[in-house]
Amino acid sequence: MRRLSLPDSAAPTEGAIRHAPSAARNLEPIAAVLARHLPPRGRVLELASGTGQHITEFAARFPGLHWQPSDPDPAARASITARAAQAPRDNLAPPLALNACQPGWATTLDPFDAICLTNLLHLISQPETDILLAETAVALAPGGRFCLYGPFRRGGALVTEGDRAFDASLRAQDPAIGYKDIDSVAATLARHGLTEIARTEMPAGNLMLITARA
Ligand SMILES: C[S@@+](CC[C@H](N)C(=O)[O-])C[C@H]1O[C@@H](n2cnc3c(N)ncnc32)[C@H](O)[C@@H]1O
Repeated sequence: MRRLSLPDSAAPTEGAIRHAPSAARNLEPIAAVLARHLPPRGRVLELASGTGQHITEFAARFPGLHWQPSDPDPAARASITARAAQAPRDNLAPPLALNACQPGWATTLDPFDAICLTNLLHLISQPETDILLAETAVALAPGGRFCLYGPFRRGGALVTEGDRAFDASLRAQDPAIGYKDIDSVAATLARHGLTEIARTEMPAGNLMLITARA
């Protein structure tokens, strides 16, 4: 796993619990979009759960859904576990050690009715992104939704000065990573059978793409 220097890195607060300011800022707008697109019942996998700020809150707000956190980083999983212990819920599972860029993970799990992913694609390479998108499509049950949030290129271009600076700082750390193009991501998902049903402008120039399996 890459160790990147990010402007808004998760920091320890107390014990194992980590806090990411960006996750606190984007939680409400993401939850509002999820409320429009998640099914009322079913199983939801979150890839790259990070600090656990999102999934612990989503489990409380969407109690009809069963939430499965995951992250390959043991420190992230410890934070998720510690957050979950503060307010235990039957609909929140212990975190899985899941590398979403490793081929084959999807067939090791029962199908999910939705998969959520925030703020990872710009931190991984194009080949890793291709594996993640293909595996995600396989992991979804018929009718399942993929809810993807993050910063993206638009029409191949970096739109704002902030995006250009952040993308450059990522590529300086690893030339293989950086912003992916939203149209290219949507086209890849379509090739894997996931149809775009919504593309929502989010605060700070981010996008949320909702796709669905037939
Ligand atoms: C910028 S953080 C985002 C965390 C959380 N989704 C959020 O929005 O606050 C990126 C997360 O991706 C995880 N990650 C890195 N490589 C990954 C991979 N190959 N598969 C799954 N998660 C990965 C990291 O451990 C980290 O928790």
